[in-house]
Parts: sequence; C-alpha cells; structure tokens
Amino acid sequence: MDKIRVIGGRPLSGSVAVGGAKNAALPAMAASLLTQDRIELENVPRVRDILTMRNLLRDMGSRAEVSDDGTAVLQSSDIRSREAPYELVKTMRASILVLGPLLGRFKSARVSLPGGCAIGARPVNLHLMGLEKMGAECEIVHGYVEASVEKLRGARILMDTVTVTGTENIMMAATLAEGETILENAACEPEVSDLADMLRSMGARIEGDGCRTIRITGVGALHGCRHRIIPDRIEAGTFAIAAAITRGDVEIERCNPNHLAAVLEQLRRVGADVDSGKDRFRVRCGGTILSENVTTYPYPAFPTDMQAQYMALMTQGDGDSIITETIFENRFMHALELVRMGADITLEGRQALVRGNGPLSGARVLASDLRASASLVLAALVARGETWIDRVYHLDRGYDRIEEKLARLGAGIERVR
Ligand code: UD1
Repeated sequence: MDKIRVIGGRPLSGSVAVGGAKNAALPAMAASLLTQDRIELENVPRVRDILTMRNLLRDMGSRAEVSDDGTAVLQSSDIRSREAPYELVKTMRASILVLGPLLGRFKSARVSLPGGCAIGARPVNLHLMGLEKMGAECEIVHGYVEASVEKLRGARILMDTVTVTGTENIMMAATLAEGETILENAACEPEVSDLADMLRSMGARIEGDGCRTIRITGVGALHGCRHRIIPDRIEAGTFAIAAAITRGDVEIERCNPNHLAAVLEQLRRVGADVDSGKDRFRVRCGGTILSENVTTYPYPAFPTDMQAQYMALMTQGDGDSIITETIFENRFMHALELVRMGADITLEGRQALVRGNGPLSGARVLASDLRASASLVLAALVARGETWIDRVYHLDRGYDRIEEKLARLGAGIERVR
C-alpha cells in the first residue's frame, strides 16, 4: 500500500493548476442516466471516486469511459440493471446520486444504503422524503433502498437540513417528473449550480439554483450534451493553506476565486496576503499567522471540507482558536493525528480548541478520511523532520496526485509504493 513521505520546513513557491471538481463531476456522471443520448464531460479530475462512479455506471450497463485528458464519455442507452450494489456504495457514499436519475427515467431503483462513515452518520432520509413527496415508494430491504413509482409528480419539498447530494438527487429526479417541483432550503453550493447548468443543456427546465429555492418543471425527455466541470474549490483551498502554512508564495490557477470567498476571507484574517483575479489567486504569507476562530456552515460560508486543513494551519497560529464544525458530528479525526505530531488540540463536542505556536514534529500518522489526509499533508509540510502518512487511498479519492503538484512547488514530498 502506498505511503506519502514528507520532509517538512520548505516554503512553497510557484504556480499550480487546479483540476475539475470531484463533487461536481460525480453528480454530472450520475445525470448521464437521465438520457439515452451520449454525454461528454470535460475537466473531469483523475481521482479514485470518479473511477468508482465509472464502475458503478458500467455495472448498470452504461458505456462509461474516463480518459487521462479529463474527458468522460457516457451513454446509458442500454441499461440492464437499476441497482447500485453494496460493494461499490460502501467505498463511496456519493453512489446514492444514481437514485434520483434511475427513478426519474426508469421508475425504479435499488441502491445500497451507504451506512456510517468516518465523519458521521450521514443518513439519506431527506433524499427519500423528497422522492416520496413526488409519489415514489421507498422501502429499506436487506440494506438497500428499493424505490419505485408509476409516475413522478412535481411537489413542494422543504428540506429541514441543507443537503448537497440530497438537493442534487431530487433536482435530477424532478427534471423528468410531471409538473413543477419546488425545492425549499436547497443547497446553494456551486456544484449544485454546475449540475443545474448541465441539466439545462440537456433540455431540463430549472430556475433558482444557487439560491435557497429551486424550481424544476418536468419535461418529457432529456437529450445529450457536452459540459465542462467547474474547478475544484476544495483543491484550490488546500493549496491556499499550503502556501500560508509554509510561509510561501503560491499562485493558484485555473480556479474560480468567487467559489472560495469565505476561505480567502479567512486567510486574510489570519494575516495572509491574498490577491484575487478572475480565474486565479495568489497567497503570500511572510510573517505571523494569527489565530482566528472559524465555524463551518453550508455555502457560501466556510466549508466543512476545508475544516481539517484549516485546523492544520491553526496549529501554527500565534494563540488560541476555536474551530466549530456544524455540518458533521464526528469530523475531528485528524485532530488526534495532529496531536501525535505535537499539536495542542482539545476536543469538546463539535468544537476544537487549537493552541497555536507549538512546533510540529514528523511522525507516522494515519489518514482517516479524504480531507483529514489533506490536513496531515499540510501539517507535515511544516513539521520538523520526516512524516509518513499511511492509508493514502483516502487522499487519492479526491486529489489528483497532490504530492506531485506540491513537489513542483518545492515541497519535500514523495509517494513511496
Ligand atoms: C456533500 C459533499 C461533501 C461535503 C458535504 C457537506 C459530495 C459528493 N459530497 O456530501 O464533500 O462534505 O456535502 O458540504 O458532494 N443529512 C441528513 N439527511 C439526509 C442528508 C443529509 O440529515 O438525507 C445531514 C448530514 O448528516 C449532514 C448534513 O445533512 O449533517 C449535510 O450533509 P450533505 O450535504 O447531505 O452531505 P453530502 O451531500 O453527503
């Protein structure tokens, strides 16, 4: 199994290009199930989760090719199974995204329940509630959601918690329902809008994405399209923190700084210089890193997917900071590994008190989930000596060879096979 070896202490400099957003590419791939026509996606990142979604689509009978140049060609004209098996779903919770499209186009689906994961319970009750409001019958049998419907009908659906994939699932199902669906308290994440853009270019009628209320008017059928996936804001944010934590100077290219407004604002608060352009931004940090509190909330606030990386940064702050996680109940696994590197962090419920100023030292650490792994890499970049990060497959689920990109910026980092 691969490991990442990092020798800390080198400031990063230079420029780095961001890839396509994993969390936009996954629903886009699932949306290909909504039509029998060919779908072409561009800017698809070369990460493990994308291959899992490809395998899932192939398993159902879709033609699904993902090339190294970031193009995906998908066609679901010959679906033989409407099932997402446990073996695939257990490795990637986002597999639940096939439920809405399958139900919309084929009127039935059998999708394994994802079960628990390292960062919290992550139920799918709101996905099911929305589909039931549209007339579907959903039952849990042998660990699978079995859903069927004669005809999906538009409905008014109020989500009591903001859910990203829940919003995407219902939006996809509603594109082929009869009548209008009004989705209230919908997720406003850029990935939801990217999916809405793609669905519109397939012929769907959607308004209000990016806001709390989305209106979808069902159409008889959707057609093929070519769609370019938005840049990955979490990958961009991870490089931004890499620049700040190493007191470096890095230009982050081919991204959308507007999607990162809360993260860039937080970096300015902690003392980094951030210059933002249209599709790039530059982060410089020469002196003291100030300790500043942060709380995660749904978009456009500070994202939970940047919380672990920010915690690594706060271990280098000049004082105390409190990090509050409001989205997932158990998303502090990285804290315990950071403590093994010498960080001073106290956890209490959904809050972490991080005492800065302490030097970190290299250690053998374990990645527990995707963003936790990124936080360990960031900490290792400033730790004295050598850090070995194990269970790198978590990192590979969402980052396209992050070690190569960091090495090009001057980091002492390599993958050991
Ligand atoms: C998506 C992202 C993930 C990100 C998360 C929050 C993808 C593929 N993944 O995950 O990277 O961390 O958004 O920004 O896009 N909830 C319920 N019932 C439901 C659904 C969710 O109670 O039916 C709760 C969850 O437990 C959690 C909160 O809602 O507390 C938000 O979760 P959600 O937005 O659904 O996360 P995902 O869509 O799974």
